[in-house]
Amino acid sequence: MTGEFVAAIDQGTTSSRCIVFDRAGDVVSVAQREHRQHFPQPGWVEHDAEEIWANVQQVVREALTAAGIGPDGLAAVGITNQRETTLVWDRATGRPVANAIVWQDTRTGPLLRELAEAYDEERLRARTGLTLATYFAGPKLRWLLDHVDGLRERAERGEVLFGTIDSWLIWKLTGRHVTDVTNASRTMLMDLATLDWDPELLDAMRVPAAMLPEIRCSAEVYGTAGGVLAGVPVASALGDQQAALFGQTCFQPGEAKCTYGTGSFLLLNTGTGPVTSRHGLLTTVGYRIEGQPAVYALEGAIAVTGSLVQWLRDNLGLISTAPQIEELARTVADNGGCYVVPAFSGLFAPHWRSDARGVIAGLTGYITKGHLARAVLEASGWQTREVVDAMNADSDVALRRLRVDGGMTGNALLMQFLADVLDVPVVRPRITETTCLGAAYAAGLAVGFWPDLATLREQWRADAQWTPQMDPASRDRELRNWRKAVQRTLDWVE
Ligand code: G3P
Repeated sequence: MTGEFVAAIDQGTTSSRCIVFDRAGDVVSVAQREHRQHFPQPGWVEHDAEEIWANVQQVVREALTAAGIGPDGLAAVGITNQRETTLVWDRATGRPVANAIVWQDTRTGPLLRELAEAYDEERLRARTGLTLATYFAGPKLRWLLDHVDGLRERAERGEVLFGTIDSWLIWKLTGRHVTDVTNASRTMLMDLATLDWDPELLDAMRVPAAMLPEIRCSAEVYGTAGGVLAGVPVASALGDQQAALFGQTCFQPGEAKCTYGTGSFLLLNTGTGPVTSRHGLLTTVGYRIEGQPAVYALEGAIAVTGSLVQWLRDNLGLISTAPQIEELARTVADNGGCYVVPAFSGLFAPHWRSDARGVIAGLTGYITKGHLARAVLEASGWQTREVVDAMNADSDVALRRLRVDGGMTGNALLMQFLADVLDVPVVRPRITETTCLGAAYAAGLAVGFWPDLATLREQWRADAQWTPQMDPASRDRELRNWRKAVQRTLDWVE
Protein backbone atom coordinates (compact mmCIF):
# COMPACT_ATOMS: atom_id res chain seq x y z
CA MET A 1 0.00 0.00 0.00
CA THR A 2 1.51 3.30 -1.09
CA GLY A 3 -1.12 6.04 -0.76
CA GLU A 4 -1.42 8.25 2.29
CA PHE A 5 -5.07 9.12 1.62
CA VAL A 6 -8.41 7.40 1.03
CA ALA A 7 -11.09 8.79 -1.30
CA ALA A 8 -14.83 8.30 -1.20
CA ILE A 9 -17.29 8.80 -4.02
CA ASP A 10 -20.79 9.69 -2.83
CA GLN A 11 -23.25 9.40 -5.69
CA GLY A 12 -26.37 11.02 -4.20
CA THR A 13 -29.86 11.89 -5.40
CA THR A 14 -29.05 15.43 -6.46
CA SER A 15 -25.28 15.45 -6.81
CA SER A 16 -22.07 13.44 -6.95
CA ARG A 17 -19.22 14.20 -4.61
CA CYS A 18 -15.70 13.03 -4.10
CA ILE A 19 -13.88 13.63 -0.82
CA VAL A 20 -10.27 12.82 -0.03
CA PHE A 21 -9.55 11.97 3.63
CA ASP A 22 -6.29 11.69 5.52
CA ARG A 23 -5.41 9.09 8.12
CA ALA A 24 -6.97 11.17 10.95
CA GLY A 25 -10.28 11.04 9.08
CA ASP A 26 -10.03 14.76 8.24
CA VAL A 27 -11.26 16.17 4.95
CA VAL A 28 -8.41 17.11 2.60
CA SER A 29 -10.46 18.09 -0.45
CA VAL A 30 -14.04 18.05 -1.73
CA ALA A 31 -15.55 18.30 -5.21
CA GLN A 32 -19.23 18.21 -6.07
CA ARG A 33 -21.48 18.36 -9.15
CA GLU A 34 -25.25 18.34 -9.45
CA HIS A 35 -27.01 16.30 -12.11
CA ARG A 36 -30.36 16.84 -13.79
CA GLN A 37 -33.61 15.53 -12.34
CA HIS A 38 -36.03 14.30 -15.00
CA PHE A 39 -39.76 14.33 -14.20
CA PRO A 40 -41.38 12.82 -17.32
CA GLN A 41 -44.77 12.44 -15.62
CA PRO A 42 -46.21 13.38 -12.21
CA GLY A 43 -44.71 10.99 -9.65
CA TRP A 44 -41.93 9.83 -12.01
CA VAL A 45 -38.27 10.71 -11.29
CA GLU A 46 -35.39 9.63 -13.52
CA HIS A 47 -31.62 10.13 -13.76
CA ASP A 48 -29.31 9.82 -16.75
CA ALA A 49 -26.69 7.31 -15.60
CA GLU A 50 -24.22 8.47 -18.28
CA GLU A 51 -24.43 12.01 -16.91
CA ILE A 52 -23.85 10.62 -13.43
CA TRP A 53 -20.79 8.66 -14.57
CA ALA A 54 -19.35 11.75 -16.33
CA ASN A 55 -19.90 13.80 -13.16
CA VAL A 56 -18.31 11.15 -10.97
CA GLN A 57 -15.16 11.11 -13.10
CA GLN A 58 -15.08 14.90 -13.05
CA VAL A 59 -15.42 15.22 -9.25
CA VAL A 60 -12.75 12.57 -8.76
CA ARG A 61 -10.35 14.55 -10.98
CA GLU A 62 -11.19 17.79 -9.18
CA ALA A 63 -10.83 16.31 -5.68
CA LEU A 64 -7.47 14.72 -6.53
CA THR A 65 -6.20 17.97 -8.05
CA ALA A 66 -7.38 19.97 -5.03
CA ALA A 67 -5.61 17.48 -2.74
CA GLY A 68 -2.47 17.84 -4.84
CA ILE A 69 -2.22 14.10 -5.51
CA GLY A 70 -2.65 11.62 -8.34
CA PRO A 71 -4.37 8.23 -8.04
CA ASP A 72 -1.12 6.81 -6.63
CA GLY A 73 -1.67 9.01 -3.57
CA LEU A 74 -4.70 6.87 -2.67
CA ALA A 75 -4.58 3.66 -0.67
CA ALA A 76 -8.17 2.88 -1.67
CA VAL A 77 -11.45 4.34 -2.87
CA GLY A 78 -14.87 3.64 -1.40
CA ILE A 79 -18.29 4.01 -3.00
CA THR A 80 -21.49 5.18 -1.38
CA ASN A 81 -24.68 5.92 -3.22
CA GLN A 82 -28.33 6.88 -3.36
CA ARG A 83 -30.03 3.57 -2.70
CA GLU A 84 -32.80 1.75 -4.60
CA THR A 85 -32.31 3.79 -7.80
CA THR A 86 -32.53 1.18 -10.52
CA LEU A 87 -30.57 0.83 -13.73
CA VAL A 88 -30.18 -1.70 -16.54
CA TRP A 89 -27.30 -1.47 -18.99
CA ASP A 90 -25.98 -3.38 -21.96
CA ARG A 91 -23.16 -5.72 -21.02
CA ALA A 92 -21.38 -5.29 -24.38
CA THR A 93 -21.69 -1.55 -25.01
CA GLY A 94 -21.94 -0.38 -21.39
CA ARG A 95 -24.88 1.87 -22.35
CA PRO A 96 -27.96 2.16 -20.12
CA VAL A 97 -31.09 0.82 -21.81
CA ALA A 98 -33.20 3.59 -20.25
CA ASN A 99 -32.91 6.33 -17.68
CA ALA A 100 -32.43 5.09 -14.12
CA ILE A 101 -35.68 5.00 -12.11
CA VAL A 102 -35.01 6.98 -8.93
CA TRP A 103 -35.99 5.79 -5.45
CA GLN A 104 -38.56 8.61 -5.14
CA ASP A 105 -40.43 7.47 -8.26
CA THR A 106 -43.96 6.16 -7.59
CA ARG A 107 -44.78 4.55 -10.96
CA THR A 108 -44.79 1.03 -9.52
CA GLY A 109 -47.93 1.73 -7.43
CA PRO A 110 -50.27 -0.45 -9.59
CA LEU A 111 -47.63 -3.20 -9.79
CA LEU A 112 -47.43 -3.32 -6.00
CA ARG A 113 -51.18 -3.78 -5.67
CA GLU A 114 -50.83 -6.75 -8.02
CA LEU A 115 -47.89 -8.11 -6.03
CA ALA A 116 -49.83 -7.70 -2.79
CA GLU A 117 -52.44 -10.14 -4.11
CA ALA A 118 -49.82 -12.71 -5.11
CA TYR A 119 -47.43 -12.34 -2.19
CA ASP A 120 -48.35 -11.99 1.46
CA GLU A 121 -46.94 -8.73 2.89
CA GLU A 122 -46.03 -10.27 6.24
CA ARG A 123 -44.00 -12.97 4.52
CA LEU A 124 -42.30 -10.35 2.42
CA ARG A 125 -41.41 -8.35 5.53
CA ALA A 126 -40.03 -11.41 7.30
CA ARG A 127 -37.96 -12.37 4.25
CA THR A 128 -36.66 -8.96 3.11
CA GLY A 129 -37.25 -6.59 6.03
CA LEU A 130 -39.13 -4.32 3.64
CA THR A 131 -42.69 -3.24 3.16
CA LEU A 132 -44.64 -3.25 -0.11
CA ALA A 133 -43.84 0.28 -1.27
CA THR A 134 -42.86 1.98 -4.50
CA TYR A 135 -39.52 2.91 -2.88
CA PHE A 136 -37.59 -0.32 -3.52
CA ALA A 137 -35.58 -1.51 -6.52
CA GLY A 138 -37.14 -4.91 -7.40
CA PRO A 139 -40.50 -3.57 -8.60
CA LYS A 140 -38.71 -0.77 -10.51
CA LEU A 141 -36.64 -3.43 -12.27
CA ARG A 142 -39.81 -5.39 -13.02
CA TRP A 143 -41.32 -2.22 -14.50
CA LEU A 144 -38.32 -1.81 -16.85
CA LEU A 145 -38.47 -5.49 -17.85
CA ASP A 146 -42.18 -5.09 -18.61
CA HIS A 147 -41.92 -1.79 -20.51
CA VAL A 148 -38.62 -1.69 -22.42
CA ASP A 149 -39.03 -3.61 -25.67
CA GLY A 150 -37.39 -7.05 -25.63
CA LEU A 151 -35.62 -6.39 -22.34
CA ARG A 152 -36.72 -9.52 -20.49
CA GLU A 153 -35.52 -11.78 -23.31
CA ARG A 154 -32.20 -9.94 -23.42
CA ALA A 155 -31.92 -10.24 -19.64
CA GLU A 156 -32.55 -13.99 -19.84
CA ARG A 157 -29.74 -14.29 -22.40
CA GLY A 158 -27.42 -12.38 -20.03
CA GLU A 159 -27.00 -9.48 -22.48
CA VAL A 160 -28.10 -6.77 -20.04
CA LEU A 161 -27.18 -6.19 -16.42
CA PHE A 162 -29.13 -4.81 -13.48
CA GLY A 163 -27.59 -2.70 -10.80
CA THR A 164 -28.20 -0.01 -8.26
CA ILE A 165 -25.83 2.94 -8.57
CA ASP A 166 -23.05 1.23 -6.56
CA SER A 167 -22.99 -1.60 -9.14
CA TRP A 168 -22.98 0.84 -12.03
CA LEU A 169 -19.98 2.75 -10.64
CA ILE A 170 -18.01 -0.36 -9.65
CA TRP A 171 -18.66 -1.86 -13.09
CA LYS A 172 -17.52 1.36 -14.78
CA LEU A 173 -14.42 1.54 -12.57
CA THR A 174 -13.36 -2.12 -12.49
CA GLY A 175 -15.46 -4.06 -15.02
CA ARG A 176 -16.82 -6.28 -12.18
CA HIS A 177 -20.57 -6.81 -11.81
CA VAL A 178 -21.08 -6.76 -8.05
CA THR A 179 -23.15 -5.04 -5.40
CA ASP A 180 -22.76 -4.90 -1.65
CA VAL A 181 -25.06 -6.43 0.88
CA THR A 182 -26.48 -3.08 2.11
CA ASN A 183 -27.57 -2.06 -1.38
CA ALA A 184 -28.86 -5.55 -2.13
CA SER A 185 -30.97 -5.38 1.04
CA ARG A 186 -32.97 -2.55 -0.61
CA THR A 187 -34.00 -4.47 -3.71
CA MET A 188 -36.78 -6.62 -2.21
CA LEU A 189 -35.03 -9.51 -3.95
CA MET A 190 -32.57 -10.52 -1.21
CA ASP A 191 -33.24 -12.83 1.72
CA LEU A 192 -32.06 -11.03 4.87
CA ALA A 193 -31.07 -14.29 6.54
CA THR A 194 -29.05 -15.90 3.72
CA LEU A 195 -27.84 -12.57 2.30
CA ASP A 196 -28.37 -14.00 -1.16
CA TRP A 197 -30.87 -13.48 -3.97
CA ASP A 198 -34.12 -15.24 -3.16
CA PRO A 199 -35.38 -17.52 -5.98
CA GLU A 200 -38.99 -17.23 -4.81
CA LEU A 201 -38.88 -13.43 -4.88
CA LEU A 202 -37.14 -13.39 -8.26
CA ASP A 203 -40.00 -15.54 -9.47
CA ALA A 204 -42.68 -13.33 -7.93
CA MET A 205 -41.05 -10.23 -9.44
CA ARG A 206 -40.27 -12.05 -12.75
CA VAL A 207 -36.60 -11.05 -12.65
CA PRO A 208 -34.07 -13.26 -14.54
CA ALA A 209 -31.19 -14.24 -12.24
CA ALA A 210 -28.69 -13.88 -15.12
CA MET A 211 -28.87 -10.08 -14.93
CA LEU A 212 -28.13 -9.79 -11.19
CA PRO A 213 -24.80 -8.70 -9.68
CA GLU A 214 -22.92 -10.86 -7.19
CA ILE A 215 -23.62 -9.80 -3.58
CA ARG A 216 -20.41 -9.01 -1.71
CA CYS A 217 -19.40 -7.52 1.66
CA SER A 218 -19.45 -3.75 2.22
CA ALA A 219 -15.75 -3.65 3.07
CA GLU A 220 -13.65 -5.76 0.71
CA VAL A 221 -11.61 -5.21 -2.45
CA TYR A 222 -13.85 -5.72 -5.51
CA GLY A 223 -11.17 -4.93 -8.08
CA THR A 224 -8.67 -2.34 -9.25
CA ALA A 225 -9.91 0.80 -10.95
CA GLY A 226 -8.83 2.07 -14.35
CA GLY A 227 -9.23 5.55 -15.86
CA VAL A 228 -9.25 8.49 -13.45
CA LEU A 229 -8.48 6.16 -10.55
CA ALA A 230 -6.01 3.91 -12.37
CA GLY A 231 -4.46 1.37 -10.04
CA VAL A 232 -6.58 2.22 -6.97
CA PRO A 233 -8.33 -0.66 -5.16
CA VAL A 234 -12.11 -0.19 -5.09
CA ALA A 235 -12.56 -1.45 -1.57
CA SER A 236 -16.00 -0.56 -0.22
CA ALA A 237 -19.59 0.00 -1.17
CA LEU A 238 -22.44 0.94 1.14
CA GLY A 239 -25.80 2.56 0.57
CA ASP A 240 -25.43 6.17 1.66
CA GLN A 241 -27.46 5.80 4.85
CA GLN A 242 -25.53 2.75 5.96
CA ALA A 243 -22.30 4.59 5.10
CA ALA A 244 -23.38 7.43 7.39
CA LEU A 245 -24.07 4.90 10.19
CA PHE A 246 -20.52 3.62 9.65
CA GLY A 247 -19.04 7.13 9.45
CA GLN A 248 -20.79 8.05 12.70
CA THR A 249 -19.07 4.93 14.11
CA CYS A 250 -22.39 3.52 15.37
CA PHE A 251 -20.78 0.09 15.76
CA GLN A 252 -22.59 -0.90 18.97
CA PRO A 253 -26.17 -2.19 19.14
CA GLY A 254 -28.42 0.64 20.35
CA GLU A 255 -26.45 3.42 18.60
CA ALA A 256 -28.36 5.51 16.09
CA LYS A 257 -27.85 8.33 13.63
CA CYS A 258 -30.08 10.43 11.41
CA THR A 259 -28.80 11.92 8.16
CA TYR A 260 -30.48 15.03 6.75
CA GLY A 261 -30.10 15.05 2.95
CA THR A 262 -32.72 15.00 0.18
CA GLY A 263 -34.69 12.82 2.55
CA SER A 264 -33.77 11.79 6.08
CA PHE A 265 -32.94 8.35 7.31
CA LEU A 266 -32.65 7.28 10.92
CA LEU A 267 -30.77 4.00 11.40
CA LEU A 268 -30.38 2.11 14.66
CA ASN A 269 -27.69 -0.59 14.94
CA THR A 270 -29.43 -3.76 16.19
CA GLY A 271 -26.39 -6.07 16.13
CA THR A 272 -25.85 -9.31 14.24
CA GLY A 273 -29.49 -10.40 14.16
CA PRO A 274 -32.27 -8.78 12.11
CA VAL A 275 -35.10 -7.29 14.20
CA THR A 276 -38.53 -7.25 12.57
CA SER A 277 -40.44 -3.99 13.02
CA ARG A 278 -44.03 -3.93 14.17
CA HIS A 279 -44.31 -0.15 13.85
CA GLY A 280 -43.56 0.73 10.23
CA LEU A 281 -39.77 0.64 10.20
CA LEU A 282 -37.57 -1.27 7.78
CA THR A 283 -35.07 -3.97 8.64
CA THR A 284 -31.92 -3.56 6.63
CA VAL A 285 -28.28 -4.58 6.56
CA GLY A 286 -26.13 -1.95 8.29
CA TYR A 287 -22.79 -3.19 6.98
CA ARG A 288 -20.71 -6.30 6.56
CA ILE A 289 -16.96 -6.41 6.87
CA GLU A 290 -15.26 -9.27 5.01
CA GLY A 291 -14.87 -12.32 7.22
CA GLN A 292 -17.34 -11.07 9.84
CA PRO A 293 -21.09 -11.51 10.29
CA ALA A 294 -23.45 -8.87 8.91
CA VAL A 295 -24.62 -6.12 11.26
CA TYR A 296 -28.29 -5.21 10.89
CA ALA A 297 -30.21 -2.00 11.48
CA LEU A 298 -33.74 -0.75 11.92
CA GLU A 299 -34.45 2.18 9.65
CA GLY A 300 -36.95 5.01 9.65
CA ALA A 301 -36.92 6.37 6.10
CA ILE A 302 -38.37 9.85 5.48
CA ALA A 303 -38.70 10.66 1.78
CA VAL A 304 -38.72 14.46 1.86
CA THR A 305 -36.78 16.81 4.13
CA GLY A 306 -33.95 18.69 2.35
CA SER A 307 -35.83 18.41 -0.94
CA LEU A 308 -38.68 20.40 0.67
CA VAL A 309 -36.23 23.26 1.21
CA GLN A 310 -35.18 22.92 -2.44
CA TRP A 311 -38.85 23.05 -3.42
CA LEU A 312 -39.23 26.31 -1.46
CA ARG A 313 -36.20 27.61 -3.36
CA ASP A 314 -36.82 26.24 -6.88
CA ASN A 315 -40.60 25.92 -7.20
CA LEU A 316 -41.75 28.81 -5.00
CA GLY A 317 -38.67 31.06 -5.29
CA LEU A 318 -38.97 32.20 -1.65
CA ILE A 319 -35.22 31.85 -1.07
CA SER A 320 -32.33 31.82 -3.50
CA THR A 321 -30.03 29.42 -1.65
CA ALA A 322 -31.02 26.58 0.69
CA PRO A 323 -29.15 27.95 3.77
CA GLN A 324 -31.17 31.21 3.49
CA ILE A 325 -34.16 29.36 4.89
CA GLU A 326 -32.80 29.82 8.40
CA GLU A 327 -32.68 33.61 8.07
CA LEU A 328 -36.20 33.67 6.63
CA ALA A 329 -37.53 31.39 9.36
CA ARG A 330 -35.96 33.62 12.03
CA THR A 331 -38.04 36.60 10.83
CA VAL A 332 -40.95 35.12 12.82
CA ALA A 333 -41.21 33.74 16.34
CA ASP A 334 -43.21 30.60 15.50
CA ASN A 335 -45.07 28.82 12.71
CA GLY A 336 -48.17 31.04 13.10
CA GLY A 337 -50.34 27.89 13.14
CA CYS A 338 -49.08 26.63 9.76
CA TYR A 339 -47.90 23.04 9.04
CA VAL A 340 -46.41 21.61 5.85
CA VAL A 341 -46.56 17.85 5.32
CA PRO A 342 -44.42 17.06 2.26
CA ALA A 343 -45.95 13.80 1.04
CA PHE A 344 -44.46 14.36 -2.44
CA SER A 345 -43.69 10.65 -2.95
CA GLY A 346 -46.48 9.53 -0.66
CA LEU A 347 -45.47 9.08 2.96
CA PHE A 348 -42.68 6.72 3.96
CA ALA A 349 -42.07 5.57 7.55
CA PRO A 350 -44.00 4.92 9.63
CA HIS A 351 -47.11 5.37 7.44
CA TRP A 352 -46.07 3.77 4.11
CA ARG A 353 -48.82 5.33 2.04
CA SER A 354 -47.76 5.79 -1.58
CA ASP A 355 -51.10 7.45 -2.31
CA ALA A 356 -50.77 10.25 0.29
CA ARG A 357 -50.25 13.74 -1.15
CA GLY A 358 -48.75 16.80 0.54
CA VAL A 359 -50.69 19.55 2.32
CA ILE A 360 -50.13 22.99 3.78
CA ALA A 361 -52.52 23.15 6.71
CA GLY A 362 -53.60 26.02 8.96
CA LEU A 363 -53.38 28.78 6.35
CA THR A 364 -54.79 32.17 7.34
CA GLY A 365 -54.19 35.68 6.03
CA TYR A 366 -51.68 36.08 8.85
CA ILE A 367 -49.20 33.59 7.38
CA THR A 368 -46.07 35.10 5.82
CA LYS A 369 -43.24 33.50 3.93
CA GLY A 370 -41.36 33.45 7.24
CA HIS A 371 -44.04 31.21 8.77
CA LEU A 372 -43.92 28.99 5.72
CA ALA A 373 -40.13 28.71 6.01
CA ARG A 374 -40.48 27.76 9.66
CA ALA A 375 -43.17 25.17 8.90
CA VAL A 376 -40.92 23.69 6.20
CA LEU A 377 -38.08 23.25 8.70
CA GLU A 378 -40.41 21.95 11.38
CA ALA A 379 -41.65 19.25 8.97
CA SER A 380 -38.18 17.65 9.20
CA GLY A 381 -38.37 17.71 13.00
CA TRP A 382 -41.84 16.19 13.24
CA GLN A 383 -41.15 13.51 10.66
CA THR A 384 -38.08 12.53 12.69
CA ARG A 385 -40.22 12.46 15.82
CA GLU A 386 -42.60 10.00 14.12
CA VAL A 387 -39.80 7.56 13.30
CA VAL A 388 -38.21 7.91 16.74
CA ASP A 389 -41.57 7.04 18.33
CA ALA A 390 -41.76 3.95 16.09
CA MET A 391 -38.19 2.99 16.95
CA ASN A 392 -38.77 3.34 20.68
CA ALA A 393 -41.88 1.18 20.37
CA ASP A 394 -40.02 -1.47 18.36
CA SER A 395 -36.90 -1.68 20.46
CA ASP A 396 -38.39 -1.26 23.96
CA VAL A 397 -35.40 0.95 24.81
CA ALA A 398 -35.96 4.69 24.41
CA LEU A 399 -33.42 6.56 22.33
CA ARG A 400 -31.32 8.66 24.71
CA ARG A 401 -29.57 10.92 22.21
CA LEU A 402 -29.36 11.26 18.47
CA ARG A 403 -26.26 11.67 16.31
CA VAL A 404 -27.03 13.78 13.26
CA ASP A 405 -25.23 14.62 10.03
CA GLY A 406 -25.88 15.87 6.50
CA GLY A 407 -26.31 19.30 4.93
CA MET A 408 -29.29 20.43 7.00
CA THR A 409 -27.42 20.01 10.29
CA GLY A 410 -25.75 23.36 9.54
CA ASN A 411 -29.15 24.89 10.34
CA ALA A 412 -29.04 25.68 14.07
CA LEU A 413 -32.74 26.61 14.21
CA LEU A 414 -33.69 23.18 12.90
CA MET A 415 -31.25 21.37 15.21
CA GLN A 416 -32.72 23.13 18.26
CA PHE A 417 -36.24 22.31 17.08
CA LEU A 418 -35.23 18.70 16.61
CA ALA A 419 -33.91 18.44 20.18
CA ASP A 420 -37.12 20.15 21.36
CA VAL A 421 -39.55 17.81 19.63
CA LEU A 422 -37.56 14.63 20.30
CA ASP A 423 -36.91 15.67 23.89
CA VAL A 424 -33.38 14.22 23.72
CA PRO A 425 -30.01 15.87 23.03
CA VAL A 426 -28.99 16.12 19.39
CA VAL A 427 -25.26 15.78 18.70
CA ARG A 428 -23.38 16.76 15.56
CA PRO A 429 -19.89 15.35 14.92
CA ARG A 430 -16.81 17.33 13.94
CA ILE A 431 -16.90 15.75 10.46
CA THR A 432 -20.44 16.14 9.13
CA GLU A 433 -19.50 14.46 5.83
CA THR A 434 -20.22 11.14 7.48
CA THR A 435 -21.59 9.45 4.36
CA CYS A 436 -18.29 9.86 2.54
CA LEU A 437 -16.36 9.24 5.74
CA GLY A 438 -18.14 5.90 6.26
CA ALA A 439 -17.32 4.74 2.71
CA ALA A 440 -13.71 5.87 3.18
CA TYR A 441 -13.49 4.12 6.56
CA ALA A 442 -14.82 0.85 5.13
CA ALA A 443 -12.43 1.03 2.16
CA GLY A 444 -9.51 1.92 4.41
CA LEU A 445 -10.30 -1.01 6.72
CA ALA A 446 -10.45 -3.39 3.76
CA VAL A 447 -6.89 -2.51 2.67
CA GLY A 448 -5.43 -2.17 6.18
CA PHE A 449 -5.07 1.64 6.00
CA TRP A 450 -6.90 1.73 9.35
CA PRO A 451 -6.36 -1.29 11.60
CA ASP A 452 -9.75 -1.74 13.28
CA LEU A 453 -13.11 -0.31 14.30
CA ALA A 454 -11.75 0.87 17.66
CA THR A 455 -9.30 3.21 15.88
CA LEU A 456 -12.13 4.70 13.82
CA ARG A 457 -14.22 5.07 16.93
CA GLU A 458 -11.51 7.12 18.63
CA GLN A 459 -11.53 9.55 15.72
CA TRP A 460 -15.20 10.47 16.29
CA ARG A 461 -15.61 13.83 18.06
CA ALA A 462 -18.71 15.91 18.80
CA ASP A 463 -18.61 19.51 17.65
CA ALA A 464 -22.05 20.77 18.70
CA GLN A 465 -24.90 19.63 20.90
CA TRP A 466 -28.46 20.95 21.28
CA THR A 467 -30.50 20.16 24.40
CA PRO A 468 -34.31 20.23 24.67
CA GLN A 469 -35.81 23.57 25.73
CA MET A 470 -39.45 23.41 24.64
CA ASP A 471 -42.00 23.17 27.42
CA PRO A 472 -43.92 19.87 27.38
CA ALA A 473 -47.36 21.49 26.94
CA SER A 474 -46.27 23.30 23.75
CA ARG A 475 -44.65 20.14 22.46
CA ASP A 476 -47.84 18.15 22.99
CA ARG A 477 -50.02 20.81 21.37
CA GLU A 478 -47.75 21.10 18.32
CA LEU A 479 -47.54 17.32 17.99
CA ARG A 480 -51.35 17.08 17.98
CA ASN A 481 -51.53 19.71 15.24
CA TRP A 482 -48.87 17.96 13.19
CA ARG A 483 -50.78 14.69 13.43
CA LYS A 484 -53.97 16.39 12.25
CA ALA A 485 -52.08 17.77 9.25
CA VAL A 486 -50.64 14.31 8.48
CA GLN A 487 -54.16 12.89 8.56
CA ARG A 488 -55.15 15.39 5.83
CA THR A 489 -52.46 13.93 3.51
CA LEU A 490 -53.86 10.45 4.05
CA ASP A 491 -57.39 11.66 3.33
CA TRP A 492 -56.20 13.25 0.09
CA VAL A 493 -56.53 10.14 -2.03
CA GLU A 494 -57.80 10.43 -5.59
O1 G3P B 1 -32.88 5.58 0.11
C1 G3P B 1 -32.62 6.78 -0.55
C2 G3P B 1 -31.37 7.42 0.00
O2 G3P B 1 -30.31 6.54 -0.10
C3 G3P B 1 -31.11 8.75 -0.70
O3 G3P B 1 -30.20 9.48 0.02
O4 G3P B 1 -28.80 11.43 0.52
O5 G3P B 1 -29.30 10.91 -1.84
O6 G3P B 1 -31.08 11.77 -0.31
P1 G3P B 1 -29.83 11.00 -0.44
